[in-house]
Amino acid sequence: RKPEPQQIQEITSLAEAREAVQSCHRCPLYEHATQAVFGEGPEHAEVMFVGEQPGDQEDLAGKPFIGPAGQVLDEFIEKVGIDRKRVYVTNAVKHFKFEPRGKRRIHQRPDGGEVQACKFWLNLEVEYVKPKVIVALGATAAQSLLGKASVTIGKMRGAPIKMEDGTVLFITNHPSYLLRIPDAEGKARERAKFEADLVMVREAI
Ligand code: URA
Repeated sequence: RKPEPQQIQEITSLAEAREAVQSCHRCPLYEHATQAVFGEGPEHAEVMFVGEQPGDQEDLAGKPFIGPAGQVLDEFIEKVGIDRKRVYVTNAVKHFKFEPRGKRRIHQRPDGGEVQACKFWLNLEVEYVKPKVIVALGATAAQSLLGKASVTIGKMRGAPIKMEDGTVLFITNHPSYLLRIPDAEGKARERAKFEADLVMVREAI
């Protein structure tokens, strides 16, 4: 695998990728983020959840899905009976993209070029972890994994997608979407759909 100019050695393991991502300059997002946030979980996890990008808390801690969205994800993983210890969690983009507003850092969606640049790292994670099932959480992850410019979750969820390498891909909403629904009825409906999607994931593992 071709190293970047600042990478002296080729990457030959997940541990090396985890180290090398910290010096990634494939897109400009490294300039303002605290650090790259690589995936976490067992090296040969059966299921890989892919989010969009680290949020504020993840950027500071260097760990994926530890903030509010991560809590929702953990809640449903436990609810449907997926063993959290057998799950690898990562993101389509490894650096936090944000806009400063006062003391706060407001999440900004990564663009297609940033997603494409970061696919290098996601590909390495898929290659070394070799999950049986991948779950794209939200449109950004789905776009990255399918190599498409746009993906409609509503049309793509609910059925497994067989990938070229034999991996089974499921597409569902991002857990942070569930946190943003204002009305109780809508929220309950979307939570039920998310749960149903994760039940399918559990059945496929
Ligand atoms: N949202 C994501 O997509 N990923 C994280 O790691 C945290 C929040």
